[in-house]
Amino acid sequence: MLHVVAHAAVHEALAQLRDRTTPSTTFRRLARRVGLILATDATRDLPLEDGFVETPLERAPVKRVATRVVAVPILRAGLGMLESFLEIVPEAQVGYCGLERNEQTAVARRYYEKLPKDLEHATVFVLDPMLATGGSAAMAIEGLKGLGARSVRLLSIVAAPEGVAALEKAAPDTIIWAAALDRELNDRKYILPGLGDFGDRLYGT
Ligand code: PRP
Ligand code: URA
Repeated sequence: MLHVVAHAAVHEALAQLRDRTTPSTTFRRLARRVGLILATDATRDLPLEDGFVETPLERAPVKRVATRVVAVPILRAGLGMLESFLEIVPEAQVGYCGLERNEQTAVARRYYEKLPKDLEHATVFVLDPMLATGGSAAMAIEGLKGLGARSVRLLSIVAAPEGVAALEKAAPDTIIWAAALDRELNDRKYILPGLGDFGDRLYGT
């Protein structure tokens, strides 16, 4: 299932993210801003429990997040969305998944993984700004399922139809939030019109 988050601020940010002349300093700020909107939308239905707090005036009924939340940025580019996710769910645990696409084949290779264990009852948010072939997201989610994860959500800034279809096949119960669904992949498996190499633009490499 794919949610494309429609918001005027997302459109404005995407316009600047796509612009090849946008420098890394601005690109980082915009990635955080879009990440914040995606995180807000993708967490709106987290389970809540009732409680009370004492305001300066009286006892007030409140609701609190009642599920374990785990955020997993896919290195490197997913790190650009982590800070904003933690702004929305500060109590989230954080796991890391290091994946790198081979430049010739576009097939992802895992080079690092550090994940919280026993994910059966957690809601896991995978953060990766680009969903191109879907190979990276599928590999990360496979690892999470191996640790018991049953509720997995993917937050991406730009998704390609090929990646959405591939993930629907590999991990059909994953819910995807994206800021944009683009047209297609080119023959090097880059998203068109896309915004280029997200990690390179984020880190100025
Ligand atoms: C990019 C991007 C995704 C992946 C998407 O990472 O950040 O993780 O490609 O492509 P896919 O859907 O075809 O797998 P990259 O491998 O370039 O690594 P980086 O984040 O370190 O730059
Ligand atoms: N990874 C990126 O950073 N950009 C793309 O267009 C595809 C994969």
